[in-house]
Amino acid sequence: MRAFALDDFGGSATLRYMPAPMPEEGDVRVRVMAAGVNPLDSAIARGAISPRVKEVMRARLPLVLGMDVSGIVDLLGPGVNTVAVGDEVYGLPGKPFFGCGTFADLAVVSASTIAHKPASLCHREAAAVPMAAMTALTAMDIVQPLEGETVLVVRAAGGVGSFVVQMCAARGAHVIAVARAANADYLRGLGATQVIDYERTDPTMAAAALHPGGLDVLVDLLGGRDALTRLLGVVREGGRVACVSKPPDDLLAAQRIRAEVIMAVATTDRLAQVARLLDTGALRLPAIRSLPLDRALEALEESGRGHVRGKLVLTLPAGIPE
Ligand SMILES: NC(=O)c1ccc[n+]([C@@H]2O[C@H](COP(=O)([O-])OP(=O)(O)OC[C@H]3O[C@@H](n4cnc5c(N)ncnc54)[C@H](OP(=O)(O)O)[C@@H]3O)[C@@H](O)[C@H]2O)c1
Repeated sequence: MRAFALDDFGGSATLRYMPAPMPEEGDVRVRVMAAGVNPLDSAIARGAISPRVKEVMRARLPLVLGMDVSGIVDLLGPGVNTVAVGDEVYGLPGKPFFGCGTFADLAVVSASTIAHKPASLCHREAAAVPMAAMTALTAMDIVQPLEGETVLVVRAAGGVGSFVVQMCAARGAHVIAVARAANADYLRGLGATQVIDYERTDPTMAAAALHPGGLDVLVDLLGGRDALTRLLGVVREGGRVACVSKPPDDLLAAQRIRAEVIMAVATTDRLAQVARLLDTGALRLPAIRSLPLDRALEALEESGRGHVRGKLVLTLPAGIPE
């Protein structure tokens, strides 16, 4: 099969031929029709993985990149009875290591981290959803925004942010999105009521001016300890925070803020829940731009520059079987 892989962290990723992977107990092999691109893919390709992530996730070499998948079940591993060969599914590998990736004609994934593809979406669209929506749902579990509360979403125009903005707005929260001016209309269309252009204004000062009483909720998808520390200064006492970098404990204690680092939880039930929301129109797709698998390097470079609106997706039309 074709696979976009690298020989080690930081090595050159290339499109190459590799043996087809075989599903083990609890796994499913999927003929990949489309694969979403995530910042973690470009970080792995650059060798820019944090020691914390490396500690949790080992690598299988050669390392096939890619985490999001939408495709057709091709082979079942022992013990799998939740899907059948020929089913259209979407999801994530669900493996405790990197390397079993989806930028390939065939990918082995855990049956526990896939669900039937949303019926209303094509594979290209469905592949944009799993990682971003599961991360956004996890952020919602942490902060649980309530009707009328004010939520600041930093890095709102990316894949995760596009879902977070919608999920907060659907709960009746007042959403302030931080993004470039070019993304303001996009974010208003997803439910943001105000957009702070970080290129013209300091987001912390702008948020403080807009809500002197303090924010109820902060979802910080940008990270960086200093920026997060400043943002925590505009969260009200007793507020809730979901973030991608570790917040300073002393500040949280002083302000009685409950904060948690987001670690996306993906399950079949949660993917099925998101599929229902997409099929009923309660949740909308992020903006999507797609490229064929042989332009994976270009997609990773674009993702690495950090300004993708919504999601980038790789398409694998006529995948070569074995
Ligand atoms: N822990 C987990 O389980 C988990 C899972 C998935 C993702 N994540 C993390 O979640 C974060 C978001 O992921 P993602 O997939 O949504 O990323 P993404 O799609 O690559 O984000 C791209 C967006 O970032 C925005 N951006 C760039 N610089 C910004 C700035 N200074 N201020 C505000 N927005 C800025 C860009 O909008 P503009 O063009 O408007 O700047 C662009 O739309 C990443 O840190 C990722 O690693 C964590």
